Amino acid sequence: MNNLQFVHRYLPGKTPDARLLLLLHGTGGDESDLLPLGRELASEAAFLSPRGKASENGAARFFRRDAEGVFDEGDVIRRAHELADFVVAAAAQYHFDLTRVIAVGYSNGANIAAALLLLRPEVLSGAVLFRAMVPLSQPPLASDLKHKPVFISAGAADRIIPASNAEQLAALLKDRGAAVTLRVIQASHRLVREDVTSAKAWLDLL
Ligand code: MLT
Repeated sequence: MNNLQFVHRYLPGKTPDARLLLLLHGTGGDESDLLPLGRELASEAAFLSPRGKASENGAARFFRRDAEGVFDEGDVIRRAHELADFVVAAAAQYHFDLTRVIAVGYSNGANIAAALLLLRPEVLSGAVLFRAMVPLSQPPLASDLKHKPVFISAGAADRIIPASNAEQLAALLKDRGAAVTLRVIQASHRLVREDVTSAKAWLDLL
C-alpha cells in the first residue's frame, strides 16, 4: 500500500545513484506499456511509470481533450501539477534523486511531459519526447529551462501530430533556455527503430 495518487509501477535502478526515467504512455496505454522501451533506452535506470488518470471512453490519458489535437488546457495545467506533485511524493517514498529525473513520453505522454517542462521544470532534469506537440496555446513566458536537455523525435508522415508542430515545440523550449535536439524521421505516429536508437544514443551522452 502507498499513498501515491496515481496507479503506477516503480522499478529501482541497478545502482543507488542510477537516474530515473519517468515513463509516460500514450492514449489507451497503461503503467506497463513503456517499461520495455525504458529498458532499451537505459537498462541501468530506475523507472517510475504512472497511469494517466483522464479517461476517454475508457482509454487512459494524462489530460482531457475536446478533439484530436484540441486540448482542454485547464485540464492540462491541473493534471501537470498533479503529476509533478506525484513525482515529488514518489521521490520521498522510493528514495530516488529528484534531480536525476528524465521524462520519456510517447504521444499524449510526451505532451504532458512538455507541459511539465513548461509548468514545473524543477521536477525534470531532461526529457525524451516521442511525437510531441505544443501542449498550451499560452505557455508561461518565464519557465526557466536553463540548458535542460530535451530530445524530440517527430514523424515526417505523422498525421496526428504534424512535424511542424513538433518544430514549434522545439522553438518554444529553446526560447526558454532548453538544449533541444529535434529529429524528424521518416515515420508516422508509430514509433520505429530509429526513434529508439537515436534517443538511446542521445541519452548515452548525457
Ligand atoms: C494528445 O491528445 O495528446 C495527442 O493528440 C496525441 C494522442 O494522444 O493522440
